[in-house]
Amino acid sequence: MGLRLGPNRTNLLPGFLLYLLLLSDPARLVGRHSPVVLVPGDLGNQLEAKLDKPSVVHYLCFKRTDSYFTLWLNLELLLPVIIDCWIDNIRLIYNRTSRTTEFPDGVDVRVPGFGKTFSLEFLDPSKSSVGSYFHTMVESLISWGYIRGEDVRGAPYDWRRAPNENSPYFLALREMIEEMYQLYGGPVVLVAHSMGNMYTLYFLQQQPQAWKDKYIRAFVSLGAPWGGVAKTFRVLASGDNNRIPVIGSLKIREQQRSAVSTSWLLPYNYTWSPDKIFVHTPTTNYTLRDYQRFFQDIGFEDGWLMRQDTEGLVDIMVPPGVELHCLYGTGVPTPDTFYYENFPDREPKTCYGDGDGTVNLQSALRCQAWRNHQEQQVSLLELPGSEHIEILANATTLAYLKSLLLEP
Ligand SMILES: *[C@@H]1O[C@H](CO)[C@@H](O)[C@H](O)[C@H]1NC(C)=O
Ligand SMILES: *[C@@H]1O[C@H](CO)[C@@H](O)[C@H](O)[C@H]1NC(C)=O
Ligand SMILES: *[C@@H]1O[C@H](CO)[C@@H](O)[C@H](O)[C@H]1NC(C)=O
Ligand SMILES: *[C@@H]1O[C@H](CO)[C@@H](O)[C@H](O)[C@H]1NC(C)=O
Repeated sequence: MGLRLGPNRTNLLPGFLLYLLLLSDPARLVGRHSPVVLVPGDLGNQLEAKLDKPSVVHYLCFKRTDSYFTLWLNLELLLPVIIDCWIDNIRLIYNRTSRTTEFPDGVDVRVPGFGKTFSLEFLDPSKSSVGSYFHTMVESLISWGYIRGEDVRGAPYDWRRAPNENSPYFLALREMIEEMYQLYGGPVVLVAHSMGNMYTLYFLQQQPQAWKDKYIRAFVSLGAPWGGVAKTFRVLASGDNNRIPVIGSLKIREQQRSAVSTSWLLPYNYTWSPDKIFVHTPTTNYTLRDYQRFFQDIGFEDGWLMRQDTEGLVDIMVPPGVELHCLYGTGVPTPDTFYYENFPDREPKTCYGDGDGTVNLQSALRCQAWRNHQEQQVSLLELPGSEHIEILANATTLAYLKSLLLEP
Protein backbone atom coordinates (compact mmCIF):
# COMPACT_ATOMS: atom_id res chain seq x y z
CA MET A 1 0.00 0.00 0.00
CA GLY A 2 2.85 2.36 0.87
CA LEU A 3 4.38 2.49 -2.60
CA ARG A 4 3.29 5.50 -4.59
CA LEU A 5 4.43 5.64 -8.19
CA GLY A 6 5.50 9.16 -9.04
CA PRO A 7 6.03 9.86 -12.74
CA ASN A 8 9.83 9.95 -12.35
CA ARG A 9 10.08 6.80 -10.30
CA THR A 10 8.06 4.80 -12.79
CA ASN A 11 10.60 5.53 -15.51
CA LEU A 12 13.37 4.05 -13.40
CA LEU A 13 11.55 0.82 -12.69
CA PRO A 14 12.13 -2.17 -14.92
CA GLY A 15 8.99 -2.90 -16.87
CA PHE A 16 8.28 -6.29 -15.36
CA LEU A 17 8.51 -4.94 -11.83
CA LEU A 18 6.04 -2.21 -12.68
CA TYR A 19 3.79 -4.87 -14.13
CA LEU A 20 3.96 -6.90 -10.91
CA LEU A 21 3.23 -3.86 -8.80
CA LEU A 22 0.22 -3.02 -10.89
CA LEU A 23 -1.01 -6.59 -10.69
CA SER A 24 -0.75 -6.59 -6.92
CA ASP A 25 -2.90 -3.51 -6.75
CA PRO A 26 -6.19 -3.92 -8.61
CA ALA A 27 -7.16 -0.32 -7.89
CA ARG A 28 -4.34 1.01 -10.03
CA LEU A 29 -4.88 -1.61 -12.69
CA VAL A 30 -8.40 -0.33 -13.31
CA GLY A 31 -7.37 3.29 -12.99
CA ARG A 32 -7.81 6.05 -10.46
CA HIS A 33 -10.97 5.97 -8.47
CA SER A 34 -12.13 8.00 -5.51
CA PRO A 35 -12.42 6.31 -2.13
CA VAL A 36 -16.05 5.85 -1.07
CA VAL A 37 -17.84 6.05 2.27
CA LEU A 38 -21.39 4.65 2.50
CA VAL A 39 -23.82 6.19 4.99
CA PRO A 40 -26.98 4.10 5.54
CA GLY A 41 -30.49 5.25 6.45
CA ASP A 42 -32.95 4.58 9.26
CA LEU A 43 -32.89 0.84 10.20
CA GLY A 44 -30.03 0.61 7.71
CA ASN A 45 -27.29 -1.25 9.56
CA GLN A 46 -26.93 -4.06 12.05
CA LEU A 47 -27.12 -3.49 15.80
CA GLU A 48 -25.85 -5.89 18.46
CA ALA A 49 -26.87 -6.25 22.08
CA LYS A 50 -25.56 -7.86 25.24
CA LEU A 51 -27.85 -8.44 28.19
CA ASP A 52 -27.59 -8.55 31.93
CA LYS A 53 -31.06 -7.42 32.91
CA PRO A 54 -32.67 -7.16 36.33
CA SER A 55 -35.98 -8.41 34.92
CA VAL A 56 -37.63 -9.49 31.69
CA VAL A 57 -41.12 -9.00 30.25
CA HIS A 58 -41.76 -12.70 29.63
CA TYR A 59 -40.25 -15.93 30.94
CA LEU A 60 -39.17 -16.81 27.39
CA CYS A 61 -36.92 -13.74 27.17
CA PHE A 62 -33.22 -13.98 27.80
CA LYS A 63 -32.15 -12.12 30.90
CA ARG A 64 -28.43 -12.50 30.39
CA THR A 65 -26.17 -13.29 27.43
CA ASP A 66 -22.46 -14.05 27.51
CA SER A 67 -21.73 -12.14 24.37
CA TYR A 68 -23.22 -9.73 21.87
CA PHE A 69 -25.95 -11.05 19.58
CA THR A 70 -27.64 -9.52 16.55
CA LEU A 71 -30.51 -7.34 17.71
CA TRP A 72 -31.17 -5.95 14.22
CA LEU A 73 -31.96 -7.63 11.97
CA ASN A 74 -32.72 -11.11 13.19
CA LEU A 75 -36.11 -12.31 11.97
CA GLU A 76 -36.28 -14.95 14.69
CA LEU A 77 -36.53 -12.20 17.28
CA LEU A 78 -39.63 -10.85 15.61
CA LEU A 79 -41.76 -13.96 16.14
CA PRO A 80 -44.83 -13.73 18.40
CA VAL A 81 -43.98 -13.39 22.12
CA ILE A 82 -40.26 -13.21 21.37
CA ILE A 83 -40.94 -9.84 19.79
CA ASP A 84 -41.90 -8.52 23.24
CA CYS A 85 -38.39 -9.41 24.45
CA TRP A 86 -36.97 -7.69 21.40
CA ILE A 87 -38.92 -4.50 21.91
CA ASP A 88 -37.92 -4.41 25.55
CA ASN A 89 -34.28 -4.53 24.42
CA ILE A 90 -34.26 -2.28 21.37
CA ARG A 91 -36.39 0.55 22.80
CA LEU A 92 -34.71 3.70 24.05
CA ILE A 93 -35.76 5.38 27.28
CA TYR A 94 -36.12 9.13 27.09
CA ASN A 95 -35.03 11.22 30.05
CA ARG A 96 -37.09 14.41 30.13
CA THR A 97 -34.59 16.15 32.36
CA SER A 98 -31.40 15.51 30.43
CA ARG A 99 -33.30 15.40 27.11
CA THR A 100 -31.26 12.36 26.13
CA THR A 101 -32.01 8.68 25.66
CA GLU A 102 -30.67 5.75 27.58
CA PHE A 103 -30.62 2.03 26.93
CA PRO A 104 -32.94 -0.02 29.16
CA ASP A 105 -31.38 -1.26 32.36
CA GLY A 106 -28.91 -4.08 31.70
CA VAL A 107 -28.96 -3.73 27.92
CA ASP A 108 -25.84 -2.71 26.04
CA VAL A 109 -26.24 -1.96 22.34
CA ARG A 110 -23.36 -1.49 19.94
CA VAL A 111 -22.97 -0.88 16.21
CA PRO A 112 -20.82 -3.54 14.55
CA GLY A 113 -18.56 -2.98 11.59
CA PHE A 114 -17.65 0.71 11.49
CA GLY A 115 -15.31 1.07 8.50
CA LYS A 116 -16.46 -2.24 7.06
CA THR A 117 -19.37 -2.84 4.73
CA PHE A 118 -20.95 -6.07 6.05
CA SER A 119 -23.20 -4.33 8.54
CA LEU A 120 -24.99 -2.39 5.79
CA GLU A 121 -24.69 -4.82 2.89
CA PHE A 122 -27.00 -7.20 4.74
CA LEU A 123 -29.07 -6.13 7.72
CA ASP A 124 -29.46 -9.76 8.61
CA PRO A 125 -26.06 -11.47 9.11
CA SER A 126 -27.53 -14.71 7.76
CA LYS A 127 -27.56 -12.77 4.47
CA SER A 128 -31.16 -13.59 3.76
CA SER A 129 -32.43 -11.67 0.78
CA VAL A 130 -35.02 -9.85 2.88
CA GLY A 131 -32.19 -8.04 4.65
CA SER A 132 -30.14 -7.20 1.56
CA TYR A 133 -29.42 -3.46 1.55
CA PHE A 134 -26.18 -2.00 0.11
CA HIS A 135 -25.01 -5.40 -1.17
CA THR A 136 -25.60 -4.92 -4.90
CA MET A 137 -23.92 -1.51 -4.85
CA VAL A 138 -20.87 -2.82 -3.00
CA GLU A 139 -20.62 -5.77 -5.40
CA SER A 140 -20.61 -3.28 -8.28
CA LEU A 141 -17.86 -1.23 -6.63
CA ILE A 142 -15.82 -4.41 -6.23
CA SER A 143 -16.23 -5.16 -9.93
CA TRP A 144 -14.87 -1.68 -10.68
CA GLY A 145 -11.72 -2.42 -8.67
CA TYR A 146 -12.69 -1.41 -5.13
CA ILE A 147 -11.78 -3.43 -2.06
CA ARG A 148 -14.15 -3.88 0.88
CA GLY A 149 -12.96 -2.21 4.08
CA GLU A 150 -10.18 -0.44 2.15
CA ASP A 151 -11.27 2.12 -0.42
CA VAL A 152 -14.97 1.40 0.09
CA ARG A 153 -16.04 1.61 3.71
CA GLY A 154 -19.29 1.79 5.61
CA ALA A 155 -20.23 4.29 8.29
CA PRO A 156 -22.98 2.54 10.27
CA TYR A 157 -24.45 4.24 13.34
CA ASP A 158 -27.17 3.94 15.95
CA TRP A 159 -30.05 5.04 13.73
CA ARG A 160 -32.47 5.10 16.66
CA ARG A 161 -30.88 8.33 17.72
CA ALA A 162 -30.59 11.70 16.04
CA PRO A 163 -27.17 13.33 15.42
CA ASN A 164 -27.25 15.24 18.75
CA GLU A 165 -26.72 11.93 20.54
CA ASN A 166 -24.15 10.51 18.16
CA SER A 167 -21.19 12.89 18.48
CA PRO A 168 -18.51 10.14 18.75
CA TYR A 169 -19.80 8.83 15.42
CA PHE A 170 -19.08 12.09 13.65
CA LEU A 171 -15.55 12.24 15.08
CA ALA A 172 -14.91 8.68 13.90
CA LEU A 173 -16.34 9.53 10.49
CA ARG A 174 -14.06 12.53 10.12
CA GLU A 175 -11.01 10.49 11.12
CA MET A 176 -11.90 7.73 8.71
CA ILE A 177 -12.29 10.18 5.83
CA GLU A 178 -8.92 11.76 6.60
CA GLU A 179 -7.30 8.33 6.78
CA MET A 180 -8.79 7.26 3.45
CA TYR A 181 -7.60 10.50 1.86
CA GLN A 182 -4.05 9.72 3.02
CA LEU A 183 -4.15 6.04 2.05
CA TYR A 184 -5.76 6.36 -1.35
CA GLY A 185 -4.35 9.70 -2.40
CA GLY A 186 -7.50 11.69 -3.02
CA PRO A 187 -10.68 13.15 -1.60
CA VAL A 188 -13.58 10.92 -0.64
CA VAL A 189 -16.99 10.49 -2.24
CA LEU A 190 -19.81 10.16 0.31
CA VAL A 191 -22.77 8.03 -0.77
CA ALA A 192 -25.76 8.32 1.54
CA HIS A 193 -29.22 6.80 1.50
CA SER A 194 -32.45 8.08 3.04
CA MET A 195 -31.91 9.40 6.59
CA GLY A 196 -28.17 8.92 6.03
CA ASN A 197 -28.41 12.08 3.94
CA MET A 198 -29.59 14.07 6.94
CA TYR A 199 -26.72 12.62 8.94
CA THR A 200 -24.29 13.53 6.16
CA LEU A 201 -25.65 17.05 5.84
CA TYR A 202 -25.38 17.52 9.60
CA PHE A 203 -21.78 16.26 9.44
CA LEU A 204 -20.83 18.55 6.57
CA GLN A 205 -22.42 21.55 8.26
CA GLN A 206 -20.12 20.94 11.23
CA GLN A 207 -16.92 20.95 9.13
CA PRO A 208 -14.98 24.07 8.09
CA GLN A 209 -15.11 24.83 4.36
CA ALA A 210 -11.34 24.29 4.03
CA TRP A 211 -11.74 20.77 5.43
CA LYS A 212 -14.52 19.97 2.96
CA ASP A 213 -12.52 21.39 0.04
CA LYS A 214 -9.63 19.15 0.91
CA TYR A 215 -11.27 15.88 1.91
CA ILE A 216 -14.61 15.63 0.10
CA ARG A 217 -14.83 15.19 -3.63
CA ALA A 218 -18.59 14.78 -3.85
CA PHE A 219 -21.71 13.81 -1.95
CA VAL A 220 -24.04 11.42 -3.76
CA SER A 221 -27.44 11.61 -2.18
CA LEU A 222 -29.94 8.80 -2.80
CA GLY A 223 -33.60 9.14 -1.80
CA ALA A 224 -33.02 12.01 0.64
CA PRO A 225 -35.89 13.13 2.89
CA TRP A 226 -34.53 16.70 3.21
CA GLY A 227 -37.87 18.12 4.30
CA GLY A 228 -39.09 15.13 6.28
CA VAL A 229 -41.49 12.34 5.34
CA ALA A 230 -45.30 12.45 5.56
CA LYS A 231 -45.45 8.75 6.44
CA THR A 232 -43.85 9.56 9.81
CA PHE A 233 -47.26 10.77 11.05
CA ARG A 234 -48.61 7.30 10.58
CA VAL A 235 -45.51 5.63 12.02
CA LEU A 236 -45.92 7.61 15.24
CA ALA A 237 -49.70 7.40 15.45
CA SER A 238 -50.50 3.77 14.63
CA GLY A 239 -47.16 2.21 13.70
CA ASP A 240 -45.97 1.01 10.32
CA ASN A 241 -44.91 -2.55 9.69
CA ASN A 242 -44.23 -2.06 5.98
CA ARG A 243 -40.72 -3.38 6.03
CA ILE A 244 -41.55 -6.47 8.11
CA PRO A 245 -45.16 -7.52 7.49
CA VAL A 246 -45.11 -10.34 10.07
CA ILE A 247 -45.26 -7.83 12.92
CA GLY A 248 -48.38 -6.07 14.10
CA SER A 249 -48.27 -2.30 13.59
CA LEU A 250 -49.09 -1.47 17.19
CA LYS A 251 -46.25 -3.69 18.38
CA ILE A 252 -43.63 -2.09 16.19
CA ARG A 253 -45.05 1.34 17.09
CA GLU A 254 -43.49 1.08 20.53
CA GLN A 255 -40.01 0.77 19.06
CA GLN A 256 -40.70 3.39 16.40
CA ARG A 257 -41.86 5.97 18.94
CA SER A 258 -38.94 5.39 21.27
CA ALA A 259 -36.45 6.09 18.48
CA VAL A 260 -35.74 9.83 18.52
CA SER A 261 -34.91 9.75 14.81
CA THR A 262 -38.58 9.05 14.04
CA SER A 263 -39.77 12.40 15.42
CA TRP A 264 -36.81 14.09 13.70
CA LEU A 265 -38.19 12.86 10.35
CA LEU A 266 -41.64 14.46 10.65
CA PRO A 267 -42.33 17.00 7.87
CA TYR A 268 -40.72 20.45 7.99
CA ASN A 269 -42.37 23.76 7.25
CA TYR A 270 -39.83 24.74 4.58
CA THR A 271 -41.08 21.91 2.39
CA TRP A 272 -44.81 21.75 3.10
CA SER A 273 -47.37 24.47 3.46
CA PRO A 274 -48.33 25.08 7.10
CA ASP A 275 -51.96 24.53 6.03
CA LYS A 276 -51.41 21.10 4.54
CA ILE A 277 -53.45 18.55 6.52
CA PHE A 278 -51.50 15.33 6.98
CA VAL A 279 -53.86 13.57 9.38
CA HIS A 280 -57.65 13.70 9.40
CA THR A 281 -59.60 12.25 12.32
CA PRO A 282 -63.34 12.59 13.05
CA THR A 283 -62.56 15.40 15.49
CA THR A 284 -59.31 16.99 14.43
CA ASN A 285 -57.14 17.87 11.45
CA TYR A 286 -53.40 17.91 12.04
CA THR A 287 -50.95 20.10 10.14
CA LEU A 288 -47.28 20.61 10.91
CA ARG A 289 -48.29 23.46 13.18
CA ASP A 290 -50.10 20.95 15.39
CA TYR A 291 -47.23 18.74 16.50
CA GLN A 292 -47.65 19.43 20.19
CA ARG A 293 -51.31 18.52 20.04
CA PHE A 294 -50.63 15.54 17.79
CA PHE A 295 -48.17 14.08 20.28
CA GLN A 296 -50.61 14.70 23.14
CA ASP A 297 -53.49 13.07 21.32
CA ILE A 298 -51.55 9.95 20.42
CA GLY A 299 -50.47 9.62 24.05
CA PHE A 300 -46.79 10.17 23.40
CA GLU A 301 -45.86 13.51 24.89
CA ASP A 302 -42.13 12.79 24.96
CA GLY A 303 -42.31 12.94 21.18
CA TRP A 304 -42.97 16.68 21.33
CA LEU A 305 -39.80 17.15 23.37
CA MET A 306 -37.86 14.90 20.99
CA ARG A 307 -39.06 16.96 18.07
CA GLN A 308 -37.98 20.19 19.72
CA ASP A 309 -34.59 18.68 20.59
CA THR A 310 -33.94 17.72 16.99
CA GLU A 311 -35.75 19.99 14.52
CA GLY A 312 -32.93 22.54 14.46
CA LEU A 313 -30.07 20.03 14.08
CA VAL A 314 -29.83 20.48 10.34
CA ASP A 315 -30.09 24.00 8.99
CA ILE A 316 -31.66 23.44 5.62
CA MET A 317 -30.76 26.97 4.52
CA VAL A 318 -27.08 26.08 4.75
CA PRO A 319 -25.99 24.08 1.69
CA PRO A 320 -23.62 21.13 2.15
CA GLY A 321 -20.73 23.07 0.59
CA VAL A 322 -19.49 20.17 -1.52
CA GLU A 323 -20.27 18.94 -5.03
CA LEU A 324 -23.73 17.42 -4.69
CA HIS A 325 -25.55 14.78 -6.75
CA CYS A 326 -29.18 14.22 -5.80
CA LEU A 327 -30.77 11.07 -7.22
CA TYR A 328 -34.41 10.49 -6.36
CA GLY A 329 -37.18 8.14 -7.37
CA THR A 330 -40.56 9.32 -8.63
CA GLY A 331 -43.80 7.78 -9.85
CA VAL A 332 -44.16 5.37 -6.95
CA PRO A 333 -47.32 5.95 -4.87
CA THR A 334 -46.08 7.62 -1.69
CA PRO A 335 -48.14 8.10 1.49
CA ASP A 336 -49.21 11.71 1.71
CA THR A 337 -52.36 12.01 3.86
CA PHE A 338 -53.98 9.76 6.46
CA TYR A 339 -57.64 9.36 7.34
CA TYR A 340 -58.36 7.79 10.74
CA GLU A 341 -61.76 6.59 11.80
CA ASN A 342 -60.34 5.40 15.08
CA PHE A 343 -57.39 7.49 16.12
CA PRO A 344 -54.68 6.49 16.79
CA ASP A 345 -54.95 2.75 17.38
CA ARG A 346 -56.42 1.55 14.10
CA GLU A 347 -54.92 1.60 10.65
CA PRO A 348 -55.80 4.70 8.64
CA LYS A 349 -56.90 5.01 5.05
CA THR A 350 -53.98 6.40 3.13
CA CYS A 351 -53.90 8.83 0.20
CA TYR A 352 -50.86 8.78 -1.98
CA GLY A 353 -48.84 11.41 -3.81
CA ASP A 354 -45.67 11.40 -5.90
CA GLY A 355 -42.33 10.19 -4.60
CA ASP A 356 -40.35 6.96 -4.22
CA GLY A 357 -42.86 5.13 -2.04
CA THR A 358 -41.37 6.52 1.17
CA VAL A 359 -39.93 9.97 0.50
CA ASN A 360 -42.42 12.51 -0.89
CA LEU A 361 -41.24 14.23 -4.03
CA GLN A 362 -41.28 17.75 -2.61
CA SER A 363 -38.96 16.62 0.17
CA ALA A 364 -36.41 15.15 -2.26
CA LEU A 365 -36.56 18.25 -4.45
CA ARG A 366 -35.29 20.46 -1.66
CA CYS A 367 -31.86 19.90 -3.30
CA GLN A 368 -32.83 22.39 -5.98
CA ALA A 369 -32.86 25.25 -3.50
CA TRP A 370 -29.11 24.86 -2.97
CA ARG A 371 -28.31 25.29 -6.64
CA ASN A 372 -27.56 28.98 -6.50
CA HIS A 373 -26.43 29.03 -2.90
CA GLN A 374 -23.12 27.23 -3.13
CA GLU A 375 -20.16 27.48 -5.48
CA GLN A 376 -19.92 23.74 -5.95
CA GLN A 377 -22.05 22.04 -8.56
CA VAL A 378 -25.48 20.67 -7.61
CA SER A 379 -26.93 18.03 -9.97
CA LEU A 380 -30.33 16.42 -9.78
CA LEU A 381 -31.34 13.19 -11.47
CA GLU A 382 -34.89 11.91 -11.42
CA LEU A 383 -35.30 8.14 -11.59
CA PRO A 384 -38.89 7.51 -12.69
CA GLY A 385 -40.21 4.27 -11.27
CA SER A 386 -37.36 3.75 -8.84
CA GLU A 387 -38.53 2.79 -5.36
CA HIS A 388 -36.87 4.06 -2.15
CA ILE A 389 -34.80 0.95 -1.41
CA GLU A 390 -34.56 -0.27 -5.00
CA ILE A 391 -32.73 2.95 -5.99
CA LEU A 392 -29.59 1.55 -4.32
CA ALA A 393 -29.42 -1.34 -6.77
CA ASN A 394 -30.93 0.45 -9.77
CA ALA A 395 -28.86 0.13 -12.95
CA THR A 396 -29.17 3.86 -13.66
CA THR A 397 -27.92 4.73 -10.17
CA LEU A 398 -24.99 2.36 -10.50
CA ALA A 399 -24.04 3.66 -13.96
CA TYR A 400 -24.18 7.23 -12.63
CA LEU A 401 -22.01 6.29 -9.69
CA LYS A 402 -19.53 4.49 -11.88
CA SER A 403 -19.01 7.40 -14.22
CA LEU A 404 -18.60 9.75 -11.27
CA LEU A 405 -16.16 7.54 -9.36
CA LEU A 406 -14.01 6.44 -12.27
CA GLU A 407 -13.87 9.89 -13.85
CA PRO A 408 -10.24 10.85 -14.52
C1 LIG B 1 -32.33 11.91 34.04
O1 LIG B 1 -31.32 12.87 33.90
C2 LIG B 1 -31.07 13.60 35.09
C3 LIG B 1 -30.12 14.73 34.74
O2 LIG B 1 -29.02 14.28 33.99
C4 LIG B 1 -30.51 12.64 36.14
O3 LIG B 1 -30.21 13.34 37.32
C5 LIG B 1 -31.55 11.56 36.40
O4 LIG B 1 -31.03 10.60 37.29
C6 LIG B 1 -31.96 10.88 35.10
N1 LIG B 1 -33.11 10.04 35.35
C7 LIG B 1 -33.07 8.72 35.21
C8 LIG B 1 -34.34 8.00 35.49
O5 LIG B 1 -32.07 8.11 34.85
C1 LIG C 1 -40.88 26.77 10.85
O1 LIG C 1 -40.63 25.99 12.03
C2 LIG C 1 -39.60 26.49 12.83
C3 LIG C 1 -39.35 25.52 13.93
O2 LIG C 1 -40.54 25.26 14.62
C4 LIG C 1 -39.96 27.89 13.32
O3 LIG C 1 -38.92 28.40 14.12
C5 LIG C 1 -40.21 28.79 12.13
O4 LIG C 1 -40.64 30.05 12.57
C6 LIG C 1 -41.23 28.19 11.19
N1 LIG C 1 -41.29 28.99 9.97
C7 LIG C 1 -42.42 29.30 9.38
C8 LIG C 1 -42.30 30.08 8.11
O5 LIG C 1 -43.50 28.99 9.83
C1 LIG D 1 -60.76 18.94 8.27
O1 LIG D 1 -60.52 19.49 7.00
C2 LIG D 1 -61.55 19.26 6.05
C3 LIG D 1 -61.09 19.86 4.74
O2 LIG D 1 -60.00 19.19 4.24
C4 LIG D 1 -62.85 19.85 6.52
O3 LIG D 1 -63.89 19.55 5.59
C5 LIG D 1 -63.20 19.32 7.88
O4 LIG D 1 -64.35 19.98 8.36
C6 LIG D 1 -62.06 19.51 8.85
N1 LIG D 1 -62.36 18.82 10.07
C7 LIG D 1 -62.20 19.36 11.26
C8 LIG D 1 -62.58 18.51 12.43
O5 LIG D 1 -61.76 20.49 11.42
C1 LIG E 1 -34.32 2.01 -12.37
O1 LIG E 1 -34.49 3.36 -12.74
C2 LIG E 1 -34.88 3.51 -14.07
C3 LIG E 1 -34.79 5.00 -14.40
O2 LIG E 1 -35.66 5.73 -13.62
C4 LIG E 1 -36.27 2.95 -14.25
O3 LIG E 1 -36.70 3.10 -15.59
C5 LIG E 1 -36.25 1.47 -13.88
O4 LIG E 1 -37.56 0.96 -13.89
C6 LIG E 1 -35.64 1.26 -12.50
N1 LIG E 1 -35.42 -0.17 -12.30
C7 LIG E 1 -36.11 -0.87 -11.44
C8 LIG E 1 -35.75 -2.32 -11.37
O5 LIG E 1 -36.95 -0.37 -10.72
